[in-house]
Amino acid sequence: MLKRISVLILAGATALTMAGCGSGDDGSTSAGGSSGGGDDKIVMGFAQVGAESGWRTANTKDIQESAKTAGIELKFSDAQQKQENQIKAIRSYIQQKVDVIAFSPVVESGWDTVLKEAQNAKIPVILTDRAVDSKDTSLYKTFLGSDFVEEGKKAGQWLVEEYKDSKDDVNIVQLEGTTGSAPANDRKAGFQEIISADPKFKIIASQTGDFTRAKGKEVMEAFLKSNPDIDVLYAHNDDMGLGAIEAIEGAGKVPGKDIKIITVDAVRDGMQALADGKINYIVECSPLLGTQLMDLAKKVIAGEQVPQRVVTEETTFTQEQAKEALPNRKY
Ligand code: AHR
Repeated sequence: MLKRISVLILAGATALTMAGCGSGDDGSTSAGGSSGGGDDKIVMGFAQVGAESGWRTANTKDIQESAKTAGIELKFSDAQQKQENQIKAIRSYIQQKVDVIAFSPVVESGWDTVLKEAQNAKIPVILTDRAVDSKDTSLYKTFLGSDFVEEGKKAGQWLVEEYKDSKDDVNIVQLEGTTGSAPANDRKAGFQEIISADPKFKIIASQTGDFTRAKGKEVMEAFLKSNPDIDVLYAHNDDMGLGAIEAIEGAGKVPGKDIKIITVDAVRDGMQALADGKINYIVECSPLLGTQLMDLAKKVIAGEQVPQRVVTEETTFTQEQAKEALPNRKY
């Protein structure tokens, strides 16, 4: 924990820079640090979603390593994709009087009460990766993560281009992420917005695969049984796409050819399947948020201004681009 004295110095030093800042501090900077832990380290409580995907594993590793590099003590919890576990973890961080709380909300709704508790305890909160739908944006200091609507749009734009010369209907099945989560809501909406410009694009089935490989396989098997003419699979992450590939192969079809596949994330296994021709296009979603998160945490604790929204920079990959990128892929 930060010693009270260092917090007072920080607060004094930053008071000048705070003047006139939109998202400057409300005094919460000193609260977390005043718990008298006896050393000078910032303590961050991080409530992770779970370990549902390759993306999440890479994200956890990056956050843990970045905390170490930044000299921040990290208290870490895995909510196993359950909102109630995340709320418990956040309440425990409030009780422990950590200096800052960061979390990636499993779903978008239902956070106001616990965020208010953190605010009342004067512990700043940073959202990473996923958003909440709270109207009161003063409940968190900043939100660091991808633009999921944009990711969905990129997936749709590739599809529109791929089928630009086709007059026939294009039958699409969609594997959605965790129900109620920001990436599932936004990737669906962004994709829909783009493809709805042409009525030949038809989503004939859409169901959650909860961002996991096992569920992706299970749901794709069901899709294949009830829909003999699937042209395209749009999976909200690589893991569900990889599970679906097993189902497609199990049904005697060729992934990437008989059924074109678009996924989101660009983790190593997804990129390998793309390079192997089993996936056709991947929209990148970067899990490497750790360095920016630690930097934002330090600034927030110091009472410095931070932007309300920090959007991650991302790209897209074709099969050829995946072959080039794979040797240097970090995750
Ligand atoms: O919130 C980011 C999403 O969560 C990733 O796309 C997915 O793989 C993960 O589980």
